[in-house]
Amino acid sequence: MLINNETIIKDSDPLIRQKSEPVSLPLSKEDETLLCELYQYVEDSRDEEKAKEFNLRPAVGISAIQVGIPKQLTAVIVNEMDKDGKEVFYKYMLVNPKIISSSMQKAYLENGEGCLSVENVHEGYVVRSARVTVKAFDLIQNKEITIRARGYLAIVLQHEIDHFSGVLFYDHIDAKNPYPVIEEAIVI
Ligand code: CO
Repeated sequence: MLINNETIIKDSDPLIRQKSEPVSLPLSKEDETLLCELYQYVEDSRDEEKAKEFNLRPAVGISAIQVGIPKQLTAVIVNEMDKDGKEVFYKYMLVNPKIISSSMQKAYLENGEGCLSVENVHEGYVVRSARVTVKAFDLIQNKEITIRARGYLAIVLQHEIDHFSGVLFYDHIDAKNPYPVIEEAIVI
């Protein structure tokens, strides 16, 4: 499948609101190929030259519904600085990821969120849980895993898992109060 900025489903297409179904394990060849292609997109999109050449918008994650397939598959690549200022990479190819717990404490990205399926600017804080625990099958590690995520990774996982319910980041922005003051929220 060719995945680029032309073929990615945008929010003008009602398909982006469709709910995604769980995928059966072990993965069929077809589902495995799709998940690999999603991951490849994210990886290539982070390479400036490839992004330019193949019309890829830089991404940290993409879900299957964004290429029009309503299955619970998502690929994520996030890099963050750890507390010692060292760069850490989180790379996942997730099947049926589920949030099994989330913190009361909130977090949001100071500059708001973006999405490959959203071209218009939507200003405002997307307030999410600061920490989430996610269970999933991960094709990279080829096993069931539990991710205890915080910071940017926690935001990205919540954003991608929202796609399975047809939810887009701006659905979380209150138009009447796009920049709420939230006590003890972590600003990323
Ligand atoms: Co998105």
